[in-house]
Order: sequence, then C-alpha cells, then structure tokens
Amino acid sequence: MTTVLAIDQGTSGTKAMVVDSGGRVLSVVELPVHPDYLSGGGVEQDPQELLDSVLESGRRAVADAEVGVDCVTLANQGETVLAWDPTTGRPLTQAIVWQDRRSAEICAKRSDSAEAINQRTGLVLDPYFSAPKMRWIREQLTTDGVVTTSDTWLIHQLTGEFVTDASTASRSLLTDLDSVSWDPELLAAFDLSGEELPRIAANDEVVGETAIFGGAVPVGGLVVDQQAALLAQRCLSPGEAKCTFGTGAFLLANMGPTPVRSSAGLASSVAWRVRGETSYCFDGQVATAASAVRWLQGLGLIQGAADLDRVAVADSDGVLCVPALAGLSAPWWAPEAKATFSGMTLSTEVGHLVKAVLDGIAAQVAELADCAAQDVGEPLHRLRVDGGLTRSRVLMQAVADLLQVQVDVFPSAHATALGAAGFARAAADPGLALEQAVIDWTPSTSFTPQLGADDAAEFRARWRAAVDTALSSDR
Ligand code: G3P
Repeated sequence: MTTVLAIDQGTSGTKAMVVDSGGRVLSVVELPVHPDYLSGGGVEQDPQELLDSVLESGRRAVADAEVGVDCVTLANQGETVLAWDPTTGRPLTQAIVWQDRRSAEICAKRSDSAEAINQRTGLVLDPYFSAPKMRWIREQLTTDGVVTTSDTWLIHQLTGEFVTDASTASRSLLTDLDSVSWDPELLAAFDLSGEELPRIAANDEVVGETAIFGGAVPVGGLVVDQQAALLAQRCLSPGEAKCTFGTGAFLLANMGPTPVRSSAGLASSVAWRVRGETSYCFDGQVATAASAVRWLQGLGLIQGAADLDRVAVADSDGVLCVPALAGLSAPWWAPEAKATFSGMTLSTEVGHLVKAVLDGIAAQVAELADCAAQDVGEPLHRLRVDGGLTRSRVLMQAVADLLQVQVDVFPSAHATALGAAGFARAAADPGLALEQAVIDWTPSTSFTPQLGADDAAEFRARWRAAVDTALSSDR
C-alpha cells in the first residue's frame, strides 16, 4: 500500500499531487512557472523558480492530504537543460527549455552525422533534444560545473544524488537506444566527452530519499512527463497511442520491447525501463499547443483557454494556420520554420483566426498519428487524449475529424502525475506488475468523426500545402 507524492514539473507549471494506493487523489496543488520567450528563438526558465515551485507545491500537497507519503516521484520536461555547480547545487545558467531553437546551428554543423546519430539514438538531430542545448550552454554561457537535464538538478536538490532515468536519458541524443547507456561516440560528436554525466536509473528504481516533505521518504519512479501520461493512459501494448495537449502536444505510441527506428520521421525513445525490461515508444510533437493559445491570449484575441470554444467559429472560412511558433518538429524537423496564417480576406474575424489555430494543431496531430500508424504497421483504432486543452470541445472534435478515429478523453486532469505515481508505486513495491500500478479508466467524453473522410482528406491536403509554403518561404 503506497501513498505517493507525485510532482509533475512541466513547462508552464508544477503540479504536486498526493495519491493513495487505490489511485484516489487526496490533494492537488498547482503553481505556474513563467518561461521567458526571447527573440531569436530562445526559451528560458529560472531554475530557482522551478525548484521553489517543486518544494512549495509538494509541501502544500502533503499538508492538504493530511497523510504521510511513502514515496516521492518527479515527472520532468524531458529535454530542458542547465549548468549547475555539483558542490553547492547552485545553478550556473538559466534552464534552456526544450522549445529553445538557439542550438539549430550546432545541429546544422553536424548534419553529415545526422543519419548515424539517428540510427544510434532513435532521435533526430534537432535543437529539441538535450545534447545540442548542452553544447550551446558550453559554447555560449559557461564551461563550469555540470550540464544536465532539469530532473537531475531537481533530484540532486531533493536527495543529493546525481541521477537521471532511462526515459529522460533516451531524449538526450547521447544514449544508444538499444543499450540505454551514455555513448562515448555521441558525446564526442557533440564535443561533450569530458562531461560528468549522471547515473541512468530504471523507472522503477528508488534513487535516494528526501526529508523535505516530512520524515525521510524514498524518492523513485522518475520519468519524462510524456511517458508518465503514456502509462496513466494504459498504453501498455504495441500500437496503443495517446496525445497529451500541454504546452506542446505530444503523441506517443507504444512500440513494445524492440527498439525500432521510425521510418516515418518520428522519434524513437524509451517508454520505460521496469523490472529489468525496456519498452520503447514512437513519439511526435506539436511544439506549440497551449503555447499557441497563450500567444493568442497575449495578442488579446482571447481572454484565455476557457474562451477558445466561445470565440472560435464553426468554420474558418478558408483561413489556414500553421502554428509553427517554435519551429516544426516531427515529421518535418524544421527548427527555423515560422508560423503562418493564410487565406484571409477583409471579412476575416478573430473567430476565424482562433478556429484556424485549433485546426492547425489538430492537423499536426493528424500528421503525427499517420506517422505512428505507418511505424506501428496498422492504423490507430482510437486516440486517447489528456491535458488542459482537451477541455476545448472544438479542438477535440477537430482532432477526431482530421484523424477519422474516435478520440477518448482521459477522465482526470492529472494524467502525467497519475502515471508518475504509478512508476513510484512500482519502485516502492517490487512485487507489483506495472499494469497493476495504474488504475483502469473509462473516457469522460468521446468524440467521433463528424466530418466525412473526403472532406477531411481535402482539408489535410490544403493544410499540408500551407506547410510546404511556410517551409519554402523560410528558405
Ligand atoms: O518534450 C517536452 C514535453 O515533455 C513538455 O511537456 O507538459 O511541459 O508541455 P509539457
């Protein structure tokens, strides 16, 4: 019987949740964090704000739950990196967020090795992943201390350990996908050979303990946020897929125990390493989902995400948006791509623009779903979805329409934290099978396609042409 404090440290906020062994949520505390968007594609966070949000949300969640916890776990952003002093624990740089595109040139300089790197890591040579940003920090900011993903720093603050987990390490471009270990040739390829790197723990491992949340409590079950949601959604068999609509939208499909490289332009990474077995997943990303919505809000076109369905009109009247506000990831891998609106006339209103953004996000998800189906070798039968933007019925209907499959909404707003709690339970109780560590669920809502297949295909062809135009005008 394990009561878990699960902390989901995300791009836009930190959520701490106490959940009991039956999967009941006893308390939730959410605190916002504030990325800085810089000209030139920079996206940074203040590491101290991340740490403070972890400590404060965790302490408040434990106090609100009025129970002791048996295990603490952390889900992390995956590819956000910083340099820090391993002696004092002090950050030496801002956290360079996964959306940051400033290491595009570092990738371009290594383009001759792109294919070899892809074969070794399962990933694409792109600023999204950790290593180019680690190199960028070394070239532009500091050569001091260690440079790691944000999880390693946060876990060091909690436990004093120097550790990451298999799923996070697999997002770095520095690990061999087959063995899930740091690869000296990859380190050399990014001129990171001298770096001190954390130990790679399994996702069902206790890595240390912390007294920060009351008493000495084991810390374990560490994982990337997207993989945590994959577990919560019970995508346990090959071909089962979910999409989490957070700051970005991330579609992951379980690929089972064999680390296949995507032939469709997705990334291949570790889903989890549990009970000595590694499971893998295909993954594709819409770099800006809630980020694009916040951008609309910043322009004053909507008051907030809750406003989307009120403002969006039923039909965008030919207006198309490619919401590449932080470049395009899978399957285009065009970090320098810029967002576009097209098809506007004097009668275009705010509602058309908002609908076009939602359709653009849905169209990107549809492209990713097609890629996943190609890699998995059969069409997706349904798509499980979670995350804040699933509250937009307009967006979810557009996803169902453009994918032409049923979209099932996870019944809790906390899929990532619930998945992380599952890994923590597996860490605390070695007798528990992973499928027993998370509860079964039925969708709170399902969306079935309302648009005909021909109309969906016609829209997607027009939207792909808009992508082609956006990519060619960028060159
Ligand atoms: O790869 C980045 C992603 O995992 C971040 O997730 O929830 O912070 O948008 P989120």
